[in-house]
Amino acid sequence: MIYRELRRTDVQQISHEMQLNFGQELSLKGWDPAHFEEIFERSFGFPAGWVLAILRAVRRPPVHLFVAEEGGKVVGTTFLFLQRTHGYIGAVMTDPGFRGKGIASELLSRAERACARRGRRWAVLDVLTDNHVARQLYVKRGYRPLRVQHWLSKPLAQRREAFRTAGPEIRAMEKADLDQLLDLYSAQQPPEVREILAPERGLLSPPRYLQSLMSATSAAWCTGALGNPSGYARATFTTPREAGNLGAPLFADRASAVEKEELLETALGWLAASGASSVVCEVPAYQGAVLQMLQDTGFEERWTMDTLALEVNGR
Ligand SMILES: CC(C)(COP(=O)(O)OP(=O)(O)OC[C@H]1O[C@@H](n2cnc3c(N)ncnc32)[C@H](O)[C@@H]1OP(=O)(O)O)[C@@H](O)C(=O)NCCC(=O)NCCS
Repeated sequence: MIYRELRRTDVQQISHEMQLNFGQELSLKGWDPAHFEEIFERSFGFPAGWVLAILRAVRRPPVHLFVAEEGGKVVGTTFLFLQRTHGYIGAVMTDPGFRGKGIASELLSRAERACARRGRRWAVLDVLTDNHVARQLYVKRGYRPLRVQHWLSKPLAQRREAFRTAGPEIRAMEKADLDQLLDLYSAQQPPEVREILAPERGLLSPPRYLQSLMSATSAAWCTGALGNPSGYARATFTTPREAGNLGAPLFADRASAVEKEELLETALGWLAASGASSVVCEVPAYQGAVLQMLQDTGFEERWTMDTLALEVNGR
């Protein structure tokens, strides 16, 4: 078995393995392998690939992509995405013919060590609540539950008319709103979650280069005074074949029921006008009121996912 970093030529095999291993999640999101391969290619090209190459050269890449190879075939993957306070681990999979041989354990060890080497105290990952095999693997390694996330979805009716905001008080989110929104975001997090998943501006306002890498378009709206928003919603659209994404909305205590409804309606209207035929939204269990609101407006829960965390200091 060879353990190495991912190469450009691995893309088709990884795409195939993703479909094999993550069918359930990918079908809800409307997985489009062609789009995935396109993003992957772009991440090696100009400008994203060049930026990544420079960051790699100075030993500060934002991602580490580990694969296991056997006989020229990719049989396992584990990706590490470095955030400010933690490393996020994703794409943990082993080809069905190669399971139970310690491949995922070895790839995870490498990702956790890289995470510690890069100065992050925590490794964090998400696992479907009913994925008992993967869960057992993580628990054995010392990962502990941090939060539960609900995944909801809803079909969207196609709209012919041009997009308009759902009420006069809805306005575009501006940079001046970000500090207050981050405060709102962290105030809703339980302290143990806040310590590990400290909110970052990129969560509320994804960087342009990332959006262009994903060929995503995104829009965000607020209610309330500029710089002192009382509500926030974001929608992201990639291709008509994939489901649109609603970022879990944020509301201050003073937000009225009408404001909340109109923000939600605006985000969904924008997605429908963009051509999305369905929408998905992940909501942490501690945002109970948002969860209830989405369910009241026709969103259905598809599954729950557990976020687990491991302290990687000293690995
Ligand atoms: C979860 C998965 C990555 C494990 O890969 P793997 O290479 O077989 O894992 P390992 O051989 O390193 O096994 C490590 C531990 O996982 C658990 N495990 C692995 N296969 C198991 C099985 N069939 N039943 C129960 N536990 C199992 C055990 O705790 C095992 O430790 P042990 O060997 O000391 O008993 C693999 O089953 C997979 O790709 N599943 C589909 C994709 C997926 O669900 N990924 C996780 C997303 S969060």
